[in-house]
Amino acid sequence: MMQQPLGYSIQATATFNELDRRVLRIFADVQAWRGWIHINQPEVRPDRIIAAIREVFRSVAMYQSFTTEAGFHMIGRLPKGEVRLIQQLCGHKAEEAEHGLWAVEDYLKLGGDEGNLKLPPTPATFAVAAVWWRMAEVEDSFGYLGAEYLFEQLTMLVTQALLPILQRHGLSHDGLRFAVEHATEDAKHAVFIKHLILDTVTRYPASANSMLRCFDYFHAVYPLPVWDEAFQRATGGDHVHA
Ligand SMILES: [Fe+2]
Repeated sequence: MMQQPLGYSIQATATFNELDRRVLRIFADVQAWRGWIHINQPEVRPDRIIAAIREVFRSVAMYQSFTTEAGFHMIGRLPKGEVRLIQQLCGHKAEEAEHGLWAVEDYLKLGGDEGNLKLPPTPATFAVAAVWWRMAEVEDSFGYLGAEYLFEQLTMLVTQALLPILQRHGLSHDGLRFAVEHATEDAKHAVFIKHLILDTVTRYPASANSMLRCFDYFHAVYPLPVWDEAFQRATGGDHVHA
């Protein structure tokens, strides 16, 4: 029996718990995915792990500036009296803004080809940007919190599960900064978003459905469509989209 946090409605707690359950199901899907199984094999070559992570960074670089800009747009559509919420979300999004640059840096440090960064986005990364912009333009702006929870909580779970794999192979590459820092940074961000979800649903009961809906919209294109494309490139399938 989950404890009811003080000051939040029963509906808000139920909404957060449902979002959290959905993230855990998606994390289980990630662990059952061929890319995760590959890098989690004890006998995998360390350069295969590096190649997979490098290609995920390239994918991040392909969508991150667009999801950030769409996020700011969505935050900008919140009710204008929500000054504190807008301030908090803008502060958080500003911290995230440079992550696309980190992904580019790490992609290059891990041996990525600079020329690839000038290529058009892949179908899955294009779809991520498209979903975020569509949500930003037409969805209830409170839905932002549901989609953002998928980003933060899943990144935290995946990067924390990745650390022992990196340690097992003695991988402490300078180009793994994005992955390693997100294990702690997104733990804090996920808790921050959790409290905003609880507070917002308590005050705006109708926002619960918007959050669940935006979570699902984003999940339709993320993470596995994006990561599987990256894995395909890492394992030599780049001719599919080059
Ligand atoms: Fe974050």
